[in-house]
Amino acid sequence: MPGLSKKIVVIGKVPNDLGDRLSKLGAVSYLERNVALSEAEIIAAANDAHIISTEPPDTITANIINACPKLIMIAQRAVGYDNINLKDCQSRPILVTNTPGVLDNATADLAFALLLATGRRIVEADHYVRTGQWQGFENDLLLGTEMSGRTIGIIGMGRIGSAMARRAYGFGMNIIYCRQAETNSLAQDQSIELDQKDLKWQTELAAKRVSLNTLLQQSDFISLHCPHNKLTEKLIGAEQFALMKKSAIFINTARGKIVDEEALVSAIESRQIRGAGLDVFYHEPKVSEPLLKATNVVLAPHIGSASEETRYAMAELSVRSIELALAGQLPANALNGDLFERWLKH
Ligand code: GLV
Repeated sequence: MPGLSKKIVVIGKVPNDLGDRLSKLGAVSYLERNVALSEAEIIAAANDAHIISTEPPDTITANIINACPKLIMIAQRAVGYDNINLKDCQSRPILVTNTPGVLDNATADLAFALLLATGRRIVEADHYVRTGQWQGFENDLLLGTEMSGRTIGIIGMGRIGSAMARRAYGFGMNIIYCRQAETNSLAQDQSIELDQKDLKWQTELAAKRVSLNTLLQQSDFISLHCPHNKLTEKLIGAEQFALMKKSAIFINTARGKIVDEEALVSAIESRQIRGAGLDVFYHEPKVSEPLLKATNVVLAPHIGSASEETRYAMAELSVRSIELALAGQLPANALNGDLFERWLKH
């Protein structure tokens, strides 16, 4: 398989120099989009492709995989990959890579920006000034909430979650977090077994690992950083919002489908929580109408990793993964590297 010239379909775009690198591996075509493509559109463009380069809106269904018999690799330009079902890639086999590690800081920056913007009502304040409502200094104008001394609860303490924790530590916040095992709502604080990472975060950030329910009850700010999968689908729903403090601010830069958006809307509308900062949505790019109207919600259009440096690094890592795989080397960021030996022989 390595060494042969390949047909590569890039959905969306990559910087020119990276496109040039791909051209050295075969014939590259670009499938531009500003709205998510349909299954039929992807099939029409990629039915004879060996490699598809994708991003989160590009849902690669089993039908697409069946209709693209030459497909050997999907290189996702994102860390989340809930648009690709690894099980569908197993039998062919199709190697799948993502881009972990290069977007942690950018995503944590955006999550923290949403936290500050919601807590200090920056968007409301901007609107207030622009619409000419500002008459002069007022002692109780647009009062927000402080970060210092408050508790942040981080759900998912992986690369991005821990980058968020470092920012929170710098702002003088108390940090509690839960990891995969504790996202099961039955998990108890007493049964959590700490590992080396927990001990490091305890020493460096005074961070405490707790169960999901404890986190929801004790946090002033809650930030989601776990992947979306079958286990985390609608992890945060009515029951979880009900456990939060009335003063809680909820931040989501992970995936919209981790949250039951109807329950979020109702928590926001009834002021069951103080506010939310959201970069991702259940049916994105569609955003529930009440969220669009709510003044205590700050919205962003899935731009967590959207800094110039990071978007370049993500595209570069995905191109490097394709280069490595075609040279017969397993990329460290392969999501199904267990099938690589079989893939090489295929
Ligand atoms: C972006 O959403 C990513 O998963 O990298």
